Amino acid sequence: MAGLKYMSGFGNEFASEDPRCPGALPEGQNNPQVCPYGLYAEQVSGSAFTCPRSTNKRSWLYRILPSVRHKPFTPMSCGDLTENWNEVEPDPNQLRWKPFNIPKSSEKKVDFISGLHTVCGAGDSKSRNGIVIHMYTCNTSMTDRCFQDADGDLLIVPQQGEILITTEFGKMMVEPNEICVIQQGMRFSVDVFGETRGYILEVFGAHFELPDLGPIGANGLANPRDFQTPVAWYEDRTVATGYTIVNKYQGKLFSCQQDFSPFNVVAWHGNYTPFKYNLENFMAINCVAFDHADPSIFTVLTAKSTRPGVAIADFVIFPPRWGVADHTFRPPYYHRNCMSEFMGLIKGHYEAKEEGFQPGGASLHSIMTPHGPDVDCFEKNSTALLKPERVSEGTMAFMFESSFSMAVTKWGLDTCHRLDKNYYKCWEALKSHFNPNWKPSSK
Ligand SMILES: [Fe+2]
Repeated sequence: MAGLKYMSGFGNEFASEDPRCPGALPEGQNNPQVCPYGLYAEQVSGSAFTCPRSTNKRSWLYRILPSVRHKPFTPMSCGDLTENWNEVEPDPNQLRWKPFNIPKSSEKKVDFISGLHTVCGAGDSKSRNGIVIHMYTCNTSMTDRCFQDADGDLLIVPQQGEILITTEFGKMMVEPNEICVIQQGMRFSVDVFGETRGYILEVFGAHFELPDLGPIGANGLANPRDFQTPVAWYEDRTVATGYTIVNKYQGKLFSCQQDFSPFNVVAWHGNYTPFKYNLENFMAINCVAFDHADPSIFTVLTAKSTRPGVAIADFVIFPPRWGVADHTFRPPYYHRNCMSEFMGLIKGHYEAKEEGFQPGGASLHSIMTPHGPDVDCFEKNSTALLKPERVSEGTMAFMFESSFSMAVTKWGLDTCHRLDKNYYKCWEALKSHFNPNWKPSSK
């Protein structure tokens, strides 16, 4: 099926032509006086022109009409989308949400844009530094309207329902347990096939990249070859009733009309593209002796800040793997962290919280807020017979970890009505095992 093939590789220079128009890419130059097939050339820059070569990102799009042919943008309702981090008082408590509600299509048609809800975030799109976490819950495909985020990159984590994303670069079907990244400014439309839910990590001022591997070496974690980029696909479609471009700009939504489909790119080349990745391809590295490596070993993608080793946000997963550590309490340790930890669950049962943390729900452990295994998990694993065992079979939990101190929105704390007010109780029955007369022989 045209447009459903992908090219593999991460961040490389790609070139793609819709097979209906062979030779659509100009040869030997980017911007000829007249482009093949009478197309317009349009560059999309994803980095400053003068960025070092290793971080310089741009793509050339060859399209039937350029993006600039549109009516003026006007403000539209933002719904539950916000960049106001002062809606409610700060809350340092451990927060956990039950699965977020998906609207029933029989009651209300909601598409990807109108189904966006901001849960938490920090920073500022204007100064190009920050992070926002959204949920999307929808039941209807976008019709004759597309979205572009002028503020930042969107890392989309489907949890329920596959989504067909049509982009200026081609189409991508993204299923739960896969992720995709739509980078800043790329236009896309989302088709859904029923009640649909997922998580979105938005970052301002940096693009997602693969983490450095250090002593791990050249291979491991998410391998570049497993990232997939769509191939060119276009439609030459006039929309007399108006095609709507929705633009997220400085935290607000704006819309404009044009009379043609924006998915009119016949060919493109460059290294600034949307991409997808199947989390099953993650090569997990883990302890094979004793104790824990920190969860950074499970980093799939990172959006780096300007401080060495400090991320605006990391996307971290906890995939199925073997647990083999000797004389070790194997679940995650109790801890407090100078980073914010937002967790979601795509499927299964998270090892440190067998109950309460459910697929489609979430938790937020804010900066220096203590957290860790619940009582049952601690008691069970303190006496468990240690042998090699599968961990997280059939499960995929993930974390958006950020150096930003995130504020929760009014929607997140109140109007979504999914906050689990009893979350703190999962630790209340932890009891002291302290024995001042303990001797090494008594263990
Ligand atoms: Fe944690």
